[in-house]
Amino acid sequence: MASERLELKAYAKVNLALEVIGRRDDGYHNVATVLQTVDLADTVVIEEADELSVECDGAGLSGKGNLAWKAAEALAERAGIVPRARIRIDKRIPVASGLGGGSADAAATLVGLNRLWGLELSEAELEEVAAGLGSDVPFLLTGGTALGTGRGDEIVRLPRLSAAELLLAVPGDSIDAKTPTMYQALRAEDFSDGSRTRGIASDLGQRALTSGGCCNAFERAAREIFPGLADVWDKVAGVTRHPPRLSGAGPAMFVMPSSESEHIRVSESLQGSGAAAYLVRAISPSGRNEA
Ligand code: C5P
Repeated sequence: MASERLELKAYAKVNLALEVIGRRDDGYHNVATVLQTVDLADTVVIEEADELSVECDGAGLSGKGNLAWKAAEALAERAGIVPRARIRIDKRIPVASGLGGGSADAAATLVGLNRLWGLELSEAELEEVAAGLGSDVPFLLTGGTALGTGRGDEIVRLPRLSAAELLLAVPGDSIDAKTPTMYQALRAEDFSDGSRTRGIASDLGQRALTSGGCCNAFERAAREIFPGLADVWDKVAGVTRHPPRLSGAGPAMFVMPSSESEHIRVSESLQGSGAAAYLVRAISPSGRNEA
């Protein structure tokens, strides 16, 4: 019998809005965020095998350290079985950039293994396993457009985003332990009450959103902490109609709406800087975000 093979797309996310509201007793922070998947994607291939393995083409991303490995173990534990599968990840999403690549791979792994192992876990059950892996993983199980609250893992679906094309600019360097470091670097003035994000969320179906009208609590800290970010930021801002906005805890930034001609100008202005530019489209892979 031929062994089963599943191929899944793991889409990157952008945080159109991200406010940090306050510290919690469990070491996390309460946030309010509007999340959007875009069509920059890793490919996750899952096959039957006698034991668990994770191969990834990025340096140091294979094996047990990959969040996809932890996803396989967590799902198997939930189902009371031994995790057996060969998982191959073809990376396109820049690593540790604020675009949710590792979380997207983990989400695709959960969806794929739920099928490969015939577990038939419901969406709600998968979301529970996903939340144990990381704050962004529940949203990335289905993607689209959503408001995230709590740690970012409590998801409410929103109407589809009207902007067709977004430009992503990703500085070449990230930092170790990026997300906790960035949360720790926040100062009192970076916190806010989430009302701006809720306003953006409730306007989504009616008004065209631009990156200038978006917000991100990590921008001040990101300009100080990420090597080269301020330079990339200024280069992008110099050639785009709308200002860039940070995604997640950075260092990736997005410009919305954008166009092929802006993509060419940004790519030219970033030449030699180690940064990369991508022109992407907002995508609702599950088709659940109708206008
Ligand atoms: O949820 P995730 O594993 O991506 O979070 C990584 C780290 O980022 C957490 O251990 C925590 O230090 C920080 N974090 C936070 N508040 C959030 C999300 C993440 O403080 N809402």
